[in-house]
Amino acid sequence: MSVVARNVTVCPDVQVQQPLAVLGRDVEVPLVNGEKVTYAALDYAASAPALQRVWDDVAAYAPYYGSVHRGAGYLSQLSTDLFEQSRAAVADFLDLREDDQVVFTRATTDSLNLLAAALPSGTRVFAFETEHHASLLPWPGRGLEVAYLRAPRSVSEAVAALDAALSTAGEGPKLVCVTGASNVTGEIWPVAELAAVAHGRGARIVLDAAQLAPHHRVSVRELDVDWVAFSGHKLYAPFGAGVLAGRADWLDAAEPYLAGGGASRTVARQIDGSVAVEWHQGPARHEAGSPNVIGAYAIASACRALTEAGFDALQAREQQLIERLRAGLAEVPEVRVLTLFGEDHPRVGVLSFVVQGWNSSHFAAALSAEYGIGVRDGLFCAHPLVRTLLGGEEAAPSECGAPEPSLPGERSLNAIRVSFGAGTPDEHVDRFLAAVRELVAGGSAWSYRTEGGRCVPDTRR
Ligand SMILES: Cc1ncc(COP(=O)(O)O)c(C=O)c1O
Repeated sequence: MSVVARNVTVCPDVQVQQPLAVLGRDVEVPLVNGEKVTYAALDYAASAPALQRVWDDVAAYAPYYGSVHRGAGYLSQLSTDLFEQSRAAVADFLDLREDDQVVFTRATTDSLNLLAAALPSGTRVFAFETEHHASLLPWPGRGLEVAYLRAPRSVSEAVAALDAALSTAGEGPKLVCVTGASNVTGEIWPVAELAAVAHGRGARIVLDAAQLAPHHRVSVRELDVDWVAFSGHKLYAPFGAGVLAGRADWLDAAEPYLAGGGASRTVARQIDGSVAVEWHQGPARHEAGSPNVIGAYAIASACRALTEAGFDALQAREQQLIERLRAGLAEVPEVRVLTLFGEDHPRVGVLSFVVQGWNSSHFAAALSAEYGIGVRDGLFCAHPLVRTLLGGEEAAPSECGAPEPSLPGERSLNAIRVSFGAGTPDEHVDRFLAAVRELVAGGSAWSYRTEGGRCVPDTRR
């Protein structure tokens, strides 16, 4: 991949052998017993490793780095071109409508907060309580009315619940916020159906695609959503940028998300000592300050790489891993996989579970310290959902070292999540399954204690 800006090819061609290879494949990590193993990265849902292709593209551009929209020099102009080309690449990736716009943000959380700040006053917002906190929390406290819908147990229940809520919502602007794929269960939400319901009831809809976009093609046109948000670091492009894309009208009518240079077209001192500002329309209105061109370019590079690899092929590969994982976990009766819509519901490569008799933090810590496997434990910034799935309202932290309340038949207080995607070899899933079997059968080989809120091996002996 070479960089073409100002109509010249300025960066060397990068030859990429495996377009979806990721960095960190050969990283060795220490085990608590002093040995070393190759790290098995199974926490893609938190932050995915960088694609080699993204890394190479960024490295090829780095010497040409310059300011964006604020420099007369050649590299500034080149970087400005590259930034705007990156916007166009994201628009292609998301299959945006002609008048839609792409705003570069810091990540999904930032994107949804931007949208929340731009909603017309009095907008009524509807979100399922199953959302990630990034989709649950930006709305209250801004003069918006927020309705949280109870966790549905099937697709049809979700669609009916939204329809019922919107049917009594009355006139005025309304926004529905929905996730594309759950960061807890990996289950895919019926986005197109919910969008049809929303539009049928005069509401707009924003798609939180943080977990969907890395795994599935997201066509704004086909899903018919009004906005979509996602994060570069979950899309194999960990350079601090994210995206909010979609309809321009509400964004153009809103106060700039950040006030400052880049968002302002003209600033004039007034006779009374104040300043009069004319703000830009379009993406620049909400991108005040020097833009993160490397972050934007990295996202564009990942978008191209995923598109070229083809989501059909990616999904087919990921589905094999999901089946392998599910079949392996099904052989361990102590494991309970968390699901909202049923275990056979379509999902991306994200799966959470609890192990009878185990504190999940202890289990995850043992996977890391004794096997070199990186997963996540906790409530995954989706507290209401995980508590619903675990069957309780309250979750109190407990000491990880002490095998905790979940005696046979009792519920766990948090869960373990395993997640993967491009570049994950079968071997990582197999190693994970072997470790689960061994831990469940024989317990952890080490003792653990809680330190700074984390479960860690007790090496004080
Ligand atoms: C479904 C979902 N939405 C939003 C977010 C927030 O993403 P970020 O932390 O990149 O802002 C996450 C992060 O895990 C997520 O899984």
